[in-house]
Amino acid sequence: MKTKVSRRAHFNAAHRLHNPNWSDARNKEVFGLCNNPNYHGHNYDLIVSVIGEVDPETGYLMDMKILKDLIKSEVENHLDHKNLNKDVADFSTLIPTAENIAKVIYDRLRPHIDQSKEIEVVLYETPRNFVTYPVK
Ligand code: NI
Repeated sequence: MKTKVSRRAHFNAAHRLHNPNWSDARNKEVFGLCNNPNYHGHNYDLIVSVIGEVDPETGYLMDMKILKDLIKSEVENHLDHKNLNKDVADFSTLIPTAENIAKVIYDRLRPHIDQSKEIEVVLYETPRNFVTYPVK
C-alpha cells in the first residue's frame, strides 16, 4: 500500500481574471468582481502531498525538510507578494484562476521530486474554495 505525506504552505498574491480576447462586458459578466481592473488579493493556502512507498531504511516517504525547502524555493519565492498577472511569467498568457495556479505549482514542483512518487497540489483561494490538481 502507498502512503501520502503532506506539507501546508501559504502565500499572498494579487490577480485579475480577464480574457483579452473578450469585450469588457463579457469579462465582467463571466468574472464579476475578480475582473476588477485594479486587481485584488487572496491569502492562498496550499497543501502539497507526495504519494509513494516508504523507504524501509529511513522510514521516510520523503524527507519533509526537502519538501519544505522545495515549496519555499519553487512556490513561495515565485508567487508570494506578487501580482500574478504582471510579475509572474507563467501568467503572461494564462488567466491566474486557482485552477491554473494549482497546475503551475504542480509543474514547478514535479521535476524536483523523484518520478517514482506522485504529487498532488490542493490550493485554497479562500477557506471555502479550493482546487485539487491533478485528479485521476
Ligand atoms: Ni480573485
